Amino acid sequence: MDLNKKICYCFNVTVGDIKKEVETGSTTLAEIQTETKAGTACKGCVKRIQETIDALLAE
Ligand code: FES
Repeated sequence: MDLNKKICYCFNVTVGDIKKEVETGSTTLAEIQTETKAGTACKGCVKRIQETIDALLAE
């Protein structure tokens, strides 16, 4: 997975940022949103965040 791929444009959150959170135990969409703010503005990236979490957990 490309860790530099941008997932949330509003808050400049990348796959790598989400990976860091998943590795420290934040595995739900709500937790990722709390930790990174990703998906809390335009919400256009919410589906991408969930897909990224799912892919990281499947690794
Ligand atoms: S792109 Fe993530 S909240 Fe807008």
